[in-house]
Amino acid sequence: MARTPLVLDVPALGALERGAGNLSGQLAQLLREAIHRGEIVPGDALPSTRLLAASLQVARGTVVEAYEQLIAEGFLESQRGAATRVAEALSGAGAGAGTRVRKAHTAHGRASRTSLPEPAARFAQVAREFTPLPPMPFAVSVPVGLTAPADIWRRLGNRVRAKGPGAPAGYDDPKGALPLREAIAAYARKSRSVHCDAGQVIITSGTQQGLYLACQVLLGSKDQAWVEDPAYRGITATLENNGRGSAMIRVPVDDEGIDVEAGIRQAPHAKVAFVTPSHQYPLGMPLSMARRSAILAWARTNDAWVVEDDYDSEFRYEGYPFPSLHSSEPDRVVYLGTFSKILFPSLRLGYVIVPHDLADAFCGARVLMDRHPPNADQHVLAAFMADGHLERHIRRVRNVYANHRAQLIAAIDALLPQEVAWVQPGDQGMHLVLWLEESLDDREVVAMAARAGVAVRAVSPMFSPGNGRPGLVLGFGGFSNAQMEEAAQRLAAVITDAVRSGVGRRGAG
Ligand SMILES: Cc1ncc(COP(=O)(O)O)c(C=O)c1O
Repeated sequence: MARTPLVLDVPALGALERGAGNLSGQLAQLLREAIHRGEIVPGDALPSTRLLAASLQVARGTVVEAYEQLIAEGFLESQRGAATRVAEALSGAGAGAGTRVRKAHTAHGRASRTSLPEPAARFAQVAREFTPLPPMPFAVSVPVGLTAPADIWRRLGNRVRAKGPGAPAGYDDPKGALPLREAIAAYARKSRSVHCDAGQVIITSGTQQGLYLACQVLLGSKDQAWVEDPAYRGITATLENNGRGSAMIRVPVDDEGIDVEAGIRQAPHAKVAFVTPSHQYPLGMPLSMARRSAILAWARTNDAWVVEDDYDSEFRYEGYPFPSLHSSEPDRVVYLGTFSKILFPSLRLGYVIVPHDLADAFCGARVLMDRHPPNADQHVLAAFMADGHLERHIRRVRNVYANHRAQLIAAIDALLPQEVAWVQPGDQGMHLVLWLEESLDDREVVAMAARAGVAVRAVSPMFSPGNGRPGLVLGFGGFSNAQMEEAAQRLAAVITDAVRSGVGRRGAG
């Protein structure tokens, strides 16, 4: 197939002063300035002389002359049969014109401001904290081997993107694609007893967006929100960075999940409770039946909302999962689901299920954020669900995760003494928490593990300030048994080393 060279438009060229004469000289000067400002950079292809002449409404010879002048000066270069380009030599260190170009650019940038805006530093910190882990043990939800949907996903993708409903189109429904919302309503009803219709389902780019939308829609400017202690950083960081840090009431978690009595003591009139009832994040216990009744009763009495983050309830390995909170109180619970865990995180698709009277509000908040989710993958996922692949996939990966979980626990038990590191009990999910001896600094251990080629996250930042306990979140993706075993050995060596040398001890450099 013939390839069309990438031709650069030069929008910032500005106008030629026709009355002033020497049009080719003027054009050459405009191009020099565009290069100096960094608007066109080394390697960029310029428009053909014919095209540029037509768009500037000058004779083609004028453009030819300007290009030739700049080639002679070393700003441009041309090869027979190829587009004229900004000279690559300009990017070389020490090259006269190149240095001038970069200096002009940086000086321009620096002179125009003295410091970054106040929120910029905080958001930059969030970016550092949320840097994804490399795809190696023990990063959570990495779709490799048996946990990757592989060929089916590609086949369906090709089908819907080429001519099907995922082909390029105009703006669509902000709630998301109807076939996907219908498939999700059916799935949530069957698997989680969430009774809803497609009109109550709003497709999100994952639970993170669902949490963000819920903060915007449900919390008035003076309202307080209960948040578990410890909790997913995706919710605590969202509240902290949207000027709601002081409205966040951290409610302790014990063996039965969030301590509702403690929440009522601290902030009886809070407007929202953000909870992970199926599988407390990160610790893993389900919310007990007594606490479920208590939190819903509190919400009813106080006209409050419960936001149920049901991120991985499909992965329970003994017995059946508790039904969702939503199933008991559909008018008070905003239910958040995600495909990051059961399929793969890069899909960036999740959903919010809201009572009918909140649907428009969530829709509006969504529109202001990003209009609507990208269309094509919604249709791929809808087809994946409609053809029964999702249920098959979940059955398969559930077994993989159950095995990996058992294998990892056995490896840790064999490699590390209980008084140094011990696993938080549990029977579900795709991660476990490995508590560390109290004197260790888990962030230091994370850095040491990364240097040893093991990917883990620290637990202490998930607690409220001053209440942190050191621990590690260990995910088990579709890595092979051999990879998991080897990584467990390396992690055990890191922890043993940290204890022996004191490198990881709190306060130690
Ligand atoms: C508690 C919790 N909620 C939700 C998510 C998923 O977020 P998303 O759907 O944005 O990938 C995660 C991911 O780690 C999580 O741990």
